[in-house]
Amino acid sequence: MPQTLHQSQLIVAPAADLARLLAERLLDQRRQQPGRALGLATGRTMEPVYAALAEAWRALSPGECAQRRRQWLSFNLDDYVGLGAADPRSFRAVMQRQLVQPLGLDPARVHLPAGDAGDPAAAVARYGAELAAAGGIGLQLLGIGLSGHVGFNEPPCQPSSPCRVVELDATTRHQNAADFGGDPARVPAQAITLGLAEILAAEEIVLMATGAHKAAVLRRALREPPTAALPASWLQGHPALTVLADAAAAAEL
Ligand code: GLP
Repeated sequence: MPQTLHQSQLIVAPAADLARLLAERLLDQRRQQPGRALGLATGRTMEPVYAALAEAWRALSPGECAQRRRQWLSFNLDDYVGLGAADPRSFRAVMQRQLVQPLGLDPARVHLPAGDAGDPAAAVARYGAELAAAGGIGLQLLGIGLSGHVGFNEPPCQPSSPCRVVELDATTRHQNAADFGGDPARVPAQAITLGLAEILAAEEIVLMATGAHKAAVLRRALREPPTAALPASWLQGHPALTVLADAAAAAEL
């Protein structure tokens, strides 16, 4: 396994190795760019990454832990409209379980859009303004949905699309139904997501995909001409994109 991530490259390795590599990269970003925000993603792909980060964190000295906690700054991509921290399926609750608690972070430094805000449009405006005030994203972590989404940017989606409220694609509601008793109709209809505009403005992007079910969408995203029909394909235009894939997800590249 390569020890460091370089720019604009594809790394194929077992999923557990990718998770450890990415966790180290996240820690490095916090050390090297403490003032710059990390862009974080949720989803099954990211679960082993946060577990590996928690493990790497446990190996830090108490002094370094304290410093990393004081300086932590992250913005998540998205959350469901209508779900708040009290709902275990909200991405806010997921981050609480997978990141805030294991690392002992101050939740106020782990930003997510307010999915449960009475006025989602106002929550969008607030989130966009918070991210802009923080100076945008340094390192952006991304998974990829079967619809070709990154964050919750469902097709069709232009690269200039900003932070906004979106309607979730039927494919996505199907993909995420397991968290809602297996019933796609119970998956919230809408989400708040950072747009391709904020994502593509990140200094560096790491896209991670694992499993055979991601092979076709990863090929379309990386090997076919960029198109609004496949939002992740706009990543091809980013100057510092690294793709991490296991052999199954990379099978069609
Ligand atoms: C989710 C999120 C994305 C995530 C994608 C893939 O619903 N909104 O940020 O990357 O879909 O999810 P998974 O990793 O579970 O396949």
